[in-house]
Amino acid sequence: MEKLGFIGMGNMAQALAIGFIKSGKISKENVYAFAPSQDKLKANAERIGFIPMTSAAGLVKAVDTVIMACKPYQIESVLKTVGEGLRGKALISIAAGWNYEKYFNYLNSDVRFQFVMPNTPAMVGEGVLLFESTNSLEEGERAEIMDLFASTGYVQEIDSSLMGIAGTVTGCGPAFVDLMIEAYADAAVKYGVKRQDAYKLVSQMILGSAKLQLETGEHPAVLKDNVCSPAGTTILGVTSLEENGFRSACIKSIDSIMNK
Ligand SMILES: NC(=O)c1ccc[n+]([C@@H]2O[C@H](COP(=O)([O-])OP(=O)(O)OC[C@H]3O[C@@H](n4cnc5c(N)ncnc54)[C@H](OP(=O)(O)O)[C@@H]3O)[C@@H](O)[C@H]2O)c1
Repeated sequence: MEKLGFIGMGNMAQALAIGFIKSGKISKENVYAFAPSQDKLKANAERIGFIPMTSAAGLVKAVDTVIMACKPYQIESVLKTVGEGLRGKALISIAAGWNYEKYFNYLNSDVRFQFVMPNTPAMVGEGVLLFESTNSLEEGERAEIMDLFASTGYVQEIDSSLMGIAGTVTGCGPAFVDLMIEAYADAAVKYGVKRQDAYKLVSQMILGSAKLQLETGEHPAVLKDNVCSPAGTTILGVTSLEENGFRSACIKSIDSIMNK
């Protein structure tokens, strides 16, 4: 992979482009992007450093690896414009629902393909990047692309049959955690903490708890037990959450998406 091009330069593509360039694994002179709103694209190009292009077809011609980063419903029409130009190139798609099986019907057999599911914390280098197991990249090329994506977070290969559920938990999960941040900050404000202090305290508490679990590898129940002294205060809060169906509410939030 020498030259990389984004079709679409919205929130997710910007997060990836910033992470890739910042990591030094690809230089900004080798990163291209096309999006229809040219003024917005040029402003982002100045800020991030990539080369702005005036057409999707021109972008595909200029690069050897293409990242499809427009909205899922736009892909069919984009493929009609650039389809032939993708021959012999690698196509990485981050559009929700557009997995290997779905692309298979639209692409020439000599387009090498990989579906990747990122999430918004990639914007701060703490994303989860799910790589679908079924793909047609060359082995060394895939390793290089995984390494590049690792500059924006944690990369994990996932069996094709589990991309839906894994992508739901990691892709929608940030919104659920944001709800929790808001709710615990409201509780702190209710008892006198300033609003801005409350968000910082709660977000850092969640960040630290996640880091502790990741770094120790401890079962979450063990970490929870460590905070709950006998007849103490934390176990009162745990009891209240259980009475209000906290765990069940979390599981059902995923059920509601999986069964839609
Ligand atoms: N955001 C997430 O949490 C998340 C997570 C996982 C996967 N994804 C996937 O990432 C993709 C992008 O999401 P996003 O949140 O970054 O969306 P976004 O901010 O709305 O960006 C969409 C981009 O596509 C461009 N675009 C529109 N029409 C186009 C066309 N015909 N040809 C080429 N580009 C076109 C837009 O350009 P203009 O602004 O010029 O119209 C914009 O740059 C989606 O497919 C989504 O499923 C997102």
